[in-house]
Amino acid sequence: MNILITGGAGFIGSNFVHFVLKAHSDVSLVNVDALTYCGNLENLSVIEDDPRYKFVKADIADSEAMEEVFKENKFDAVINFAAETHVDRSITGPAIFLHTNVFGTQVLLDMAMKYGLKRFVQISTDEVYGSLPETGVFTEETPLAPNSPYSASKASADMLVRAYVHTYGLNAVVTRCSNNYGPYQFPEKLIPLMITNALEDQPLPVYGDGMNVRDWLHVEDHCRAVWLALNKGRSGEIYNIGGSNEWHNLALVKELLNILGKPESLITFVKDRPGHDRRYAIDSSKIRNELAWKPTFNFADGLRQTVEWTITNENWWRRVKSGEYQSYYKEQYEL
Ligand code: NAD
Ligand code: TYD
Repeated sequence: MNILITGGAGFIGSNFVHFVLKAHSDVSLVNVDALTYCGNLENLSVIEDDPRYKFVKADIADSEAMEEVFKENKFDAVINFAAETHVDRSITGPAIFLHTNVFGTQVLLDMAMKYGLKRFVQISTDEVYGSLPETGVFTEETPLAPNSPYSASKASADMLVRAYVHTYGLNAVVTRCSNNYGPYQFPEKLIPLMITNALEDQPLPVYGDGMNVRDWLHVEDHCRAVWLALNKGRSGEIYNIGGSNEWHNLALVKELLNILGKPESLITFVKDRPGHDRRYAIDSSKIRNELAWKPTFNFADGLRQTVEWTITNENWWRRVKSGEYQSYYKEQYEL
């Protein structure tokens, strides 16, 4: 099977590339990534010479560039990980979120139709459902109610996928996962930001009262779910993915400090994020029952492993945090 992976130089995409090349010897991958501020080929350096892997630097919203990629490679499937992903950035600059997450998805959908791909997997997020009160969970039937420009752009992409299934008969599935953690996550997101700040004895900025809840899943468990959705998901269906592992942000930050042996005095409460979703929680019984998926990571072990990975890979996050990739972004990626 020949698969187009978009956004494979990012956090989840690079973990997925490693996962597939290790576990499935009959699969070859082409990774299309624009290498924005969070796309980092260092994440893939150990497999860059693998004959089953090829990298193309391109913007998924550039239809001419995508036409070339699809013409040159006979793909069986596309998995669309590429996105602008940080809620805070979407609040200060929504335009690029629409460019990549909406128009980029539409270009890929058109190419998938034109070149007769057998399967399109859209990597979405539980954030399209909005925010929950203290109780309740998101099911696949929960109405979409996105609250940030990020989640609104992801919901728009999901709607486009739905439209292409119904209008043109595209074979596609949408996965909606909860918050991921693990190796190679860009240290603007909660867990890697808190670990790296604590390692540098810098303040840990907790938004608002720290009582917002997220449902955390190890990235490898997400990758296995995506693989199952690719191969066994029913076209036109949505699959929620989550670990039933809810944590208040403050409790999670304290747990990280405990693992690192750092003082809680590093915690600094800061102004809340505008429109901050209070709670996410996922009902993943559909993918568990239909595709026999279940999470394998115990959270305590996964967190400890992620902390150890961060300590071992100090050069990686120091380069990322120093903005080396951000200046690259400014030079290379003009829209
Ligand atoms: P990330 O920000 O780490 O990586 C995104 C990747 O996409 C980067 O390599 C970037 O260079 C690339 N990219 C951005 N714009 C592009 C463009 N126009 N063309 C080509 N490549 C482009 O993101 P992530 O956390 O790995 O998320 C991957 C996907 O999973 C996203 O679609 C996201 O919405 C979804 N998701 C993420 C989480 C999470 O917790 N991180 C949870 C659920 C769903
Ligand atoms: P984040 O990792 O940005 O993911 P998302 O907003 O997509 O869920 O944030 C996770 C939670 O942590 C969210 O409730 C916002 C909060 N947060 C902080 O309190 N401080 C921070 O510095 C960041 C980045 C996030």
